[in-house]
Amino acid sequence: MILIALLTSMVAPPLLRRAMRAIPGNHDEHAREEELAAQAASSLAARRVTDMGRLAVISGGGSGIGRAASAALAQDCTEIVIIGRRAERITEAAAELNAAAGSCRVRAMTADLREPEQVQAAVDAITTGDRAVDVLVNNAGGNFVPFPVQGDLATERRDWLVNFTGNVLPAVLLTSGLLPVIRRPGGRIITVSSIAAFRGPATYGGAKAALHAWSAELATRLAPDGITVNVVAPGYVTGTEFYGQRMSPEFHAGRARQSPMNRGGEPAEIAATIAHLASAAAGYLTGQVIQVNGGALLGRG
Ligand SMILES: NC(=O)c1ccc[n+]([C@@H]2O[C@H](COP(=O)([O-])OP(=O)(O)OC[C@H]3O[C@@H](n4cnc5c(N)ncnc54)[C@H](OP(=O)(O)O)[C@@H]3O)[C@@H](O)[C@H]2O)c1
Repeated sequence: MILIALLTSMVAPPLLRRAMRAIPGNHDEHAREEELAAQAASSLAARRVTDMGRLAVISGGGSGIGRAASAALAQDCTEIVIIGRRAERITEAAAELNAAAGSCRVRAMTADLREPEQVQAAVDAITTGDRAVDVLVNNAGGNFVPFPVQGDLATERRDWLVNFTGNVLPAVLLTSGLLPVIRRPGGRIITVSSIAAFRGPATYGGAKAALHAWSAELATRLAPDGITVNVVAPGYVTGTEFYGQRMSPEFHAGRARQSPMNRGGEPAEIAATIAHLASAAAGYLTGQVIQVNGGALLGRG
């Protein structure tokens, strides 16, 4: 009966279906059949989607936390797109992730996500066909003014714009570009912020804090669609390119001391939280800022 109803709903033209409903006594039965057909069709569509596997997009997936998140999500997603500005870096990372996964599931994409045209080109390349994006990890960013100097107002303006542009725009633009194709229901948007959003340094912390307010609004707006939106705010994390030339044994020891655990986090430890937020199990978890910092914000007592 369900099969007949499904075929009728797919094949019978609307006029014919309306005429069949118009026959006295047929109305309730046909309404019920149409409802069952719609349910069957949507469960068939859902199965096709599941068969295709999950698609994740990870900005800054070529190094550090983003790369660890790519490796973690490769357990559960059959297709992963990683985006970065350096073509060589991102291509190499994709090759290594594919080699580790033993299959070709990671695709490298080069784009500067501060630039709308480049974001649009990336979005167009990701959204070919009718593929939905299951997971978006907005991880690209960094402290692009690590040594601010007391300057004039023009210098201060430049420093704020550099860190705002480098941390807020990649998340906001990529999310807005992909929003129409984020899976509804079931989509996951996860943005990497920082402990700096709670305690500076000013231009970097201010930019990351802006992502908290943006994510809160997005979480409220997208909850009715079944999309969750969360922030992961790491403390000091080792083994990334974040600190560049600043890293030294003394620098590391100073940062590690900020946590009562007396160590930095590892990219995989941040990735584990990202992977949980991306999972089906986290469907009721939205609008949160999850801190992963070894207790650093508590101080050392
Ligand atoms: N490491 C820490 O202690 C720490 C602590 C708290 C928060 N975080 C945050 O964690 C995130 C990841 O940082 P990480 O520590 O893993 O450092 P990382 O190794 O430098 O990773 C940052 C990644 O983002 C990419 N990226 C930066 N700007 C981009 C842009 N405009 N467009 C596209 N890709 C861009 C970089 O690649 P390209 O240079 O090739 O573009 C790089 O792969 C950042 O948002 C950072 O602020 C880090």
